[in-house]
Amino acid sequence: MTTAVPLDAPRSPRSTAPRNRGVNLEKWGWIYMRVSGVLLIVLIFGHLFVNLMVGEGIHALDFAFVAGKFASPFWQWWDVLMLWLALIHGANGMRTIVNDYVTTPKVRRVLVWALGLSAAFLILLGTLVVFTFDPCLGVTEDSVLWATCQAAA
Ligand code: HEM
Repeated sequence: MTTAVPLDAPRSPRSTAPRNRGVNLEKWGWIYMRVSGVLLIVLIFGHLFVNLMVGEGIHALDFAFVAGKFASPFWQWWDVLMLWLALIHGANGMRTIVNDYVTTPKVRRVLVWALGLSAAFLILLGTLVVFTFDPCLGVTEDSVLWATCQAAA
């Protein structure tokens, strides 16, 4: 049987519960959700505006457009920042939902680990793609990119 830990009043300056000592990871996780949310508004809407509305807008979206963006360190960092912030934000948000709704400790642990591992894997893969992307990789003479890639080589 578990004993209930008394909760502090919502606006107490700091918790007096005996187990809440040291770094409060849940608090920092909550602050992360707010801060990353604000940054994601700028990054996501900037991304949508530049890709869909500037110049020819959505009609200009093709392989060359993406290759052009990934050739610029500015857009590489923009996209990587968006990737990291959104994946950690999404995984941490899902962890909150799992902790709220999954009552079996073993299932909860498996799901939280699965969330962490999949987020880490996607962050690693996405970061590698952004920084190692090479539009000329595997381009042969019958490709429309042949002349451009030859000139750039
Ligand atoms: C404009 C971009 C975004 C903003 C401003 C934003 C904002 C927020 C905020 C403030 C929270 C905390 C809510 C709370 O504590 O009650 C939250 C939770 C959450 N967000 Fe986002 N978010 C954005 C993008 C995303 C993206 C891209 C994903 C998915 C990859 C995502 C998934 C989640 C999830 C799963 C939660 C947890 C919901 C819950 O606790 O019930 N969000 N978001």
